[in-house]
Amino acid sequence: MAKITIRTLQKMKAEGRKFTSLTAYDATQAHWVSAAGIEVMLVGDSLGMVIQGHDSTLPVTLDDMAYHTRAVARGNQQSMLMVDLPFMTAATVERTLDAAHQLMQAGAEIVKLEGARWLAPAIEQLSHNGVPVCAHLGLTPQSVNKFGGYRVQGKDAAGQQLLEDADALVAAGADMLLVECIPAELAKELQQRSPVPVIGIGAGADVDGQVLVLYDMLGMNTGRNARFVRNFMTDAGSPQEAITLYDQAVRNGDFPQPEHQF
Ligand code: KIV
Repeated sequence: MAKITIRTLQKMKAEGRKFTSLTAYDATQAHWVSAAGIEVMLVGDSLGMVIQGHDSTLPVTLDDMAYHTRAVARGNQQSMLMVDLPFMTAATVERTLDAAHQLMQAGAEIVKLEGARWLAPAIEQLSHNGVPVCAHLGLTPQSVNKFGGYRVQGKDAAGQQLLEDADALVAAGADMLLVECIPAELAKELQQRSPVPVIGIGAGADVDGQVLVLYDMLGMNTGRNARFVRNFMTDAGSPQEAITLYDQAVRNGDFPQPEHQF
């Protein structure tokens, strides 16, 4: 299978073909995800919760992200490797460039930043320096304390604001957008106006790609599942098979269903 790049995803969007994304945190998981043909493998800072046992992503450090990125890169074959900039590493343009530098040297092929239009100057500089960027909008878990919990974002007037933020970040050079926990109607509008691929989680079916946290879709979590999660292990005999079922369900329009959206 050919190596997935941002151009592959742009082509898929243009042709109206869905793509898939999953998190991975070590080499074995990376092997599973890649072998299933998942286009975008994400070393998410969700590792702070599912691996490290914290109740948020805030304690995750840049060194943690670089460590897991190196492990995942060794297990990955053809997926595009996306890595999160952890909490506060995008607070200034200089810090953003330094963090992206370290993660790209650890094996990232695109970095993901949480925020809104204030990220535009950093995204512009990353773009000038040859670093592909995914901007994460909507429920950005690093802002959980500001939101007062993990709540649906982009309702009512905030929806228009999100669309304008996305436009500004794409104009600054963002190559991809990821929206988390926003109304499905808003995600659909964003997908239609966005020239770059839009990945959703808890954002309905009308986006270009879907992403889930690996531990959630394998039923390997200790708490209550979020509404947008389906446990694919219930119909599978192995993690590899569950990942393949997820991949097929997204491509054939069987996941997500209306009960998974807001
Ligand atoms: O950290 C992560 O796993 C993420 C996904 C929830 C999209 O950002």
